[in-house]
Amino acid sequence: MSATVASSVAAGVPSSGHTSSILIIEFTPFAVEGQRSIDGNAFPLALKLSEASEKAAPSLPAVKEHIQELARDGTIRSLLNQHGVLFFRGLPLKTGEDLSFLVDAFGFREEHQEIGLSGARSSVTKYIKTASELPGTVSMHFHNEYARTNHFPEIVFFFSERVPEQGGQTPLLSSVELYDRLEKELPEFVKELEEKGKSLHLCVIGRQYYPSKHDPEAPAVGYNWQDSYGFNIKEGDSLEVQHAKIEKILREENQATAEWQPDEYGGRLHVVQHVPAIRTIRSSGKRSFFNGLSGVYGNAKRSGSLLPPHKVQNGPGYKLPSSYGDGSPIPDEYHERLIEIQDEIAFLVPWQEGDVAVVNNYTVQHSRTKFVGNRSVLVSLWDDIDDFVRE
Ligand SMILES: [Fe+2]
Repeated sequence: MSATVASSVAAGVPSSGHTSSILIIEFTPFAVEGQRSIDGNAFPLALKLSEASEKAAPSLPAVKEHIQELARDGTIRSLLNQHGVLFFRGLPLKTGEDLSFLVDAFGFREEHQEIGLSGARSSVTKYIKTASELPGTVSMHFHNEYARTNHFPEIVFFFSERVPEQGGQTPLLSSVELYDRLEKELPEFVKELEEKGKSLHLCVIGRQYYPSKHDPEAPAVGYNWQDSYGFNIKEGDSLEVQHAKIEKILREENQATAEWQPDEYGGRLHVVQHVPAIRTIRSSGKRSFFNGLSGVYGNAKRSGSLLPPHKVQNGPGYKLPSSYGDGSPIPDEYHERLIEIQDEIAFLVPWQEGDVAVVNNYTVQHSRTKFVGNRSVLVSLWDDIDDFVRE
């Protein structure tokens, strides 16, 4: 384990009673159930307070100061590059407010602004949102956050505020390892993802459906085009102006286009997005399977909407398929094997209350298992300094 993290950093003076002594805080690695090793690196790197630090019961401000130190000297960023996920247990955190206080200590560049939310998520406090308000009967497939668009965060914090009676883990996998596995086991799939459409300078095509806010199905769908993209819409704007404003945001922020399906509620929006399915990370030169292909396929399969017109059976809305860059369909058997490999290389975060996982979204995919009971996982999304190579 990194000597840098294990080394002590003077983290200030406790606020009460011990004004003459310096409190030393240090993290120590520990083995967490299900932890994997990828190219010799723990996945995730699990950290807790050392025994001595734990005895001192440091306050949240003292822990924050220590993390700031580890951010300033580059330790946090380098460990995230090396391991993909930093998993903290035993920090003095209980609520979203606590996380909000702590989160900027990690020194990431700025909070990520979400554009095109297509899930049920709401703001809790500064920097902090609910991860997903989908019911526990629904599992999620692996994806990199917002990889279906060209506007995605680099860092995702997950914080376990409340653990349900059963299930509700957050599965994580290395999307670099996933790329390596796919290249070995499904080389044709990888080649087609990269090559089909390339002569036209087109990448994989994602299509996503957004109802109008006035569609009676919209509340059940959980999102709509006005709330997800209509930041510049003003009261009194004609439908034509509203559509033009949505198209401008899509074009300028996400390099996406809009297809409108007329209906009596103001039109259904299909966002058409060309995105690479595989990207190269600038800092490491490694290839990352960075997309949400299995979720798009898996959700459509589950809702019986794999075939045109892709209407969800027994539920609201549409699940539109992704296709290769030339518009041809991606075979089901590739999707099926992709999902199997993802399950084979997954680590399931065994949440306890107060746990925090800091995830490098460029190199790690996440999902969610079903659960029974009351679950609260909060997220915080950040932009930072790494990038993908423009190809
Ligand atoms: Fe997500």
